[in-house]
Amino acid sequence: MSGLIRLLDFKDVSDKRGTLVALEGERNIPFAIKRVYYMVDVPPGETRGFHAHRKLQQVAVCLNGSCKMVLDDGKTRESVVLDSPTKGLVIGDLVWREMSEFTAGAVLMVLASEPYDEADYIRDHDEFLTIVRS
Ligand code: TYD
Repeated sequence: MSGLIRLLDFKDVSDKRGTLVALEGERNIPFAIKRVYYMVDVPPGETRGFHAHRKLQQVAVCLNGSCKMVLDDGKTRESVVLDSPTKGLVIGDLVWREMSEFTAGAVLMVLASEPYDEADYIRDHDEFLTIVRS
């Protein structure tokens, strides 16, 4: 595992009633949470992402099922399978991400440090490489 893949290990509170996981901004999530979004019903074989952000911190948690995440900082590409509601993948700014291999019923939740802003996206990989290498 390289420095690109940073996984947070969330404490779970489990008893005979099940499992509870609590996420709190600036506590077990390394930023104040301004937005939460999630992906469901991703068809078999479908891919998502293929972009980076200029200034956004995110943590991705696969709440159910699993999916594969590829991260690319312009120097290296690393992948990880997210398959646990107690594991959070930290995705910093200027990191290209690609998501694939969603299992049926997979739920991928993302916590973000900023509200949605299309101007923050870098959707062209060549432009991404130019920005990170400059
Ligand atoms: P996008 O970030 O491109 O999805 P993915 O990375 O999974 O491929 O977003 C898909 C669409 O949803 C796009 O039209 C923008 C919109 N969107 C919002 O309106 N708010 C959000 O917080 C996000 C993440 C996306």
